[in-house]
Amino acid sequence: MIKVPRGTEDVLPEKVKTWHYIENKLHKIADTFNYKEIRTPIFERTELFLRGVGETTDIVQKEMYTFEDRGGRSLTLRPEGTASVVRSYVENKMHGLPNQPVKLYYMGPIFRYERPQKGRNRQFTQFGIEALGSADPAIDAEVIAFAMQCYESMGLSSLRLVINSLGDLESRKNHRQALIDHFTPHKGELCEDCQTRLEQNPLRVLDCKKDREHPAMGTAPSILEYLNEESRKYFEDVKDYLETMGISYEIDPTMVRGLDYYNHTVFEIMSDAEGFGAITTLTGGGRYNGLVQELGGPETPGIGFAFSIERLIMALEAEGIQLPLEDKLDCFVVAMGDQARKEAARIVYNLRKAGLKADKDYMDKKIKAQFKAADRFHSKFVLVLGEDELSEGKISVKNMATGDQEKKSLDEILTYLKEMMQGGQHHG
Ligand code: HAM
Repeated sequence: MIKVPRGTEDVLPEKVKTWHYIENKLHKIADTFNYKEIRTPIFERTELFLRGVGETTDIVQKEMYTFEDRGGRSLTLRPEGTASVVRSYVENKMHGLPNQPVKLYYMGPIFRYERPQKGRNRQFTQFGIEALGSADPAIDAEVIAFAMQCYESMGLSSLRLVINSLGDLESRKNHRQALIDHFTPHKGELCEDCQTRLEQNPLRVLDCKKDREHPAMGTAPSILEYLNEESRKYFEDVKDYLETMGISYEIDPTMVRGLDYYNHTVFEIMSDAEGFGAITTLTGGGRYNGLVQELGGPETPGIGFAFSIERLIMALEAEGIQLPLEDKLDCFVVAMGDQARKEAARIVYNLRKAGLKADKDYMDKKIKAQFKAADRFHSKFVLVLGEDELSEGKISVKNMATGDQEKKSLDEILTYLKEMMQGGQHHG
C-alpha cells in the first residue's frame, strides 16, 4: 500500500466541508477589510527565498524543497507567501497603482521540510495578507485586527496576541552588537548552529530551539532597550491604535520571528486552549520595510501575517467549536422498475439544471435501501417514481420535514420544489 508522504495529509470529503466553510469565511473577511486576492505560483526561483526569507534562517538552511528542473534551473516549492507576493508586486509595478497601500491576500499550499508533529506539517495551507506601501502605524493595527477577526469570527476565544518591535536598521544594529557582546563569553556552550548564528545574525540565537534553556537566554539584552526615538515612537503609536480599537495584547521583548525580513512591529497570536498541543502559535506576522527594495523594487514599506488553516482547525477542535456546517440534499429520487429508473435519470438531471441538489440510486438497490440512502443524505424531499406514478405521468413528493406527501405532474414538479425551497426551508 502506498501511503501519503510524511508530514502531508489527505483532506477527506467529510473534512472538506469544514475547509470550505473556513475558506469562504476568510474570503468574506478579506473583502470587508478591502484586501484583494492574489495567486502566485507554488514554485519560484530559489534565489527569491534566499534573498527574501534570508540565508541565515532555518527555513532557507534546512527546510526548503529545492530541485532542479529539466532546464537546469533551481526552483523551490514556496516555504512561505510573502516573498512571492513581494516579487509579484515588484514585477507588476504595483507601486504605481492608484490605490495605495496595495492590500493583498492569498491562500494556498506551503512546503517546509520540518520534523512533523501535531500542528507541524511538511505541506500546509497558509492564509496570509500583505499591505504594501504604507508606513502608517494604523495599518499595523489593521493587519493585527484582521488576524484577530479571522479567529474571533469563527468563535475562538482562548487567544493571546503577543507583540514586539524589532525597530529600524539603526536600532537593530545597536542591539546586534549588544547581543554579540552578551553571547560571546558563552559561545562554547551554545549549539553549533548558534555559534554560526552569533557571527551571521545574532538575533537568530534568541529563536534557537536547542539553546532555549541556556541561562544567557534569559538575560539577553532586550531589543526594546535599543529602539531609537523614531522606532520607539512608532511602536507607541501601534500600541495606541490597538488600544483605541479595543484589542488587548502582551509585549514579549524576546519574540524575534523566524524570518529575516522583519523590522518594527512583529506579532504572533497564540492559542491558550487546553489540549491545543505543544505548538501554540496560530499566526505570525510583522513589518518588513526593506523587502521590496531587496527584491529590486522601490523603497516601500510593508506588513502582513500568515496562518495555517490546519492550526486554525486544531484550535477550533481544542475549543470544541462546532461550525454551522450543513450538507443536505434537496431531493433524492427513488425509482421502482426499469422504466422508472430511466425516467429518474432524466428527472434528476433536470432538477440539477434547475439548481437543486439532487441524486438517485446507481447501485440497483431495493426500494427500502433507496429510502435509507435518501435518509443518509438528509434529503429534504424524496421523490418516488413507481409504476402507478409512471402510468399517471406523476411523481410522489414527500416532504421529509413535515411528512406530507403529494402527487404532482412531472411538469409541476420543478416549480413546486423551488417554491417549497424558497418557503423558508432551503438553507443552501
Ligand atoms: P511563519 O511564522 O513562518 O510566517 O508562518 C506563519 C504561520 O504558518 C504559523 O503561525 C503557522 O500558523 C503556520 N505554519 C508555519 N509552519 C507550519 C507547519 N510546518 N505546519 C503547519 N502550519 C505551519 C510566515 O510564513 C510569514 N510569511 C508571515 C508573514 C506574512 N509575515 C509578513 N507577512
